[in-house]
Amino acid sequence: MKTPITVSVTGAAGNIGYALLFRIASGSMFGPEQPVNLRLIEIEPGMKALQGVIMELDDCAFPLLNDVVATSDLEEGFKGANWALLVGSVPRGPGMERGDLLKVNGGIFTGQGKAIAATAADDVRVLVVGNPCNTNALIAMNSAEGVPNDRFFAMTRLDENRAKSQLAAKGGVHNSDITNMCIWGNHSATQYPDYTNAKINGKPVTETITDTEWLQGEFISTVQQRGAAIIKARGASSAASAANGVVDTVRSLTNPTPEGDWTSIAVCSDGSYGIDAGLIASMPIRVDAEGNWDVVPGVELDAFSKEKLDATVQELRDEKAAVADLL
Ligand code: NAI
Repeated sequence: MKTPITVSVTGAAGNIGYALLFRIASGSMFGPEQPVNLRLIEIEPGMKALQGVIMELDDCAFPLLNDVVATSDLEEGFKGANWALLVGSVPRGPGMERGDLLKVNGGIFTGQGKAIAATAADDVRVLVVGNPCNTNALIAMNSAEGVPNDRFFAMTRLDENRAKSQLAAKGGVHNSDITNMCIWGNHSATQYPDYTNAKINGKPVTETITDTEWLQGEFISTVQQRGAAIIKARGASSAASAANGVVDTVRSLTNPTPEGDWTSIAVCSDGSYGIDAGLIASMPIRVDAEGNWDVVPGVELDAFSKEKLDATVQELRDEKAAVADLL
């Protein structure tokens, strides 16, 4: 048997976990030939539900699922992890300020960063999903001594997929006709879905969609507010589409990017595009045949795009300042 890939997932008994684990175990994430070990991490109150999820994993008899461990001990949970998917976090409670939320979650991601540094595999890669995901990733990265910064990612792929789907519907084309869709900045309501560089069948979006007012207004706000719209409609936050975003992100990081295209992932900025070095910000990313990623250089940003990028980067700076004592 091929050596299994070990994937640690926090918040494994939550909504996203429930949609995600089955896709990892079925081969959607690493392909039909690649066995996986799952190390599932929950806080104590979630352990009973997690046992139920594991019973269901057992009942699928997945050929690719080699081993499953459930724990609330972080060092045990991240032991030998090639991938750490940090999904669990504390939701914003009534009367809770954003700053309080940043601090509460900050404490969680400090401990997780340290445990990853202590026990994960040498090649560990960390994808943060739990919100506020960019700043949680920043904290984990700064707490994981010895793990290179380029191993830390925060998820904006769900936003990218949402943007593609909105453009496809408006343009009367298929999702797969849309390429070069970049979400810039923070996974929050300030994110900038960049229609100016996106393409439909290889040509600028604006050749198919000529309604600039829609592109600059409703399109952007629909993508930014989609999470809230889903909560309103479903009575619960996006889970299956978020899990799909996780699968897509990991696949994009483990397979070469199609020629000329890119994907959106929040990474540790090297100062590209005037984004402060060290912030975890979403940018256009490409991956080569060896699995190395870099920021796509030379993407042109017009005045409208620059203004939007500045606003979302400013929010990331403010979030960083709010958790400065954890960095
Ligand atoms: P959920 O509340 O259903 O599940 C969260 C789970 O995490 C719970 O089972 C909880 O017990 C567990 N948990 C809490 N603290 C933990 C800790 N310290 N260690 C391990 N587990 C812990 O939430 P759901 O719907 O699964 O969402 C998870 C996170 O993903 C939320 O923060 C949500 O805002 C975020 N999210 C991010 C998206 C993105 O695009 N980046 C999209 C959708 C959701």
